[in-house]
Amino acid sequence: MLHIHPSTFKVSRTNRSEKLNQTPRLIWFTGLSGSGKSTLANALEFLLYSKGYATYLMDGDNVRTGLCKDLTFSIEDRIENIRRIAEVGNLMLDAGLIVLSAFISPFIADREMISRLVGAENFLEIYVDCPIEVCEARDVKGLYNKARQGLIPNFTGIDSPYEPPINPFAQIKTNEMSLETSVQYLFDQLEPRIIY
Ligand code: ADX
Repeated sequence: MLHIHPSTFKVSRTNRSEKLNQTPRLIWFTGLSGSGKSTLANALEFLLYSKGYATYLMDGDNVRTGLCKDLTFSIEDRIENIRRIAEVGNLMLDAGLIVLSAFISPFIADREMISRLVGAENFLEIYVDCPIEVCEARDVKGLYNKARQGLIPNFTGIDSPYEPPINPFAQIKTNEMSLETSVQYLFDQLEPRIIY
């Protein structure tokens, strides 16, 4: 038994949200490596920031090098990766922020866990949809090539599964739509959900 006694904070999420004049939400990008999650999330964060929203973007660059640097790409560690990000995201929602996150997050069960943790109304799942052949042809980081040679085990889409969302808040086909159009489309979809 853990002897933890939650205290009642004097400043609430509602207070912070009111002060920031926005409704905190978790905008969760999911998709294959190289599908364009980080690019989209970055561009969307910039647009939101330019319009005065208080935001924070979590992705592999600032999470897998710090908070989750002890984790690998085994199934168990990917689950733990997403669990930690979801918990941190939840704290950031409490802080009143519009949180964006860009991780492969390959498993439906984990994304359902996030939705339960933060509340389904706060979890806005964006499926960054791009055929693996296109991701592989782009191979921005050269990882698909290495994975095909057997140098990276458990590579998503090759020898580790990716489970696409069944009913995402939005879906972007990054090989069919320009970045500008996609970001504007996402902003139009999201705006009614993030205004105070
Ligand atoms: S997740 O599955 O745990 O959500 P995450 O988004 O943090 O993955 O990290 C994915 C990034 O790590 C990929 O874009 C790629 O650059 C790199 N990576 C390294 N090894 C792997 C692997 N085995 N499978 C997928 N991505 C990998």
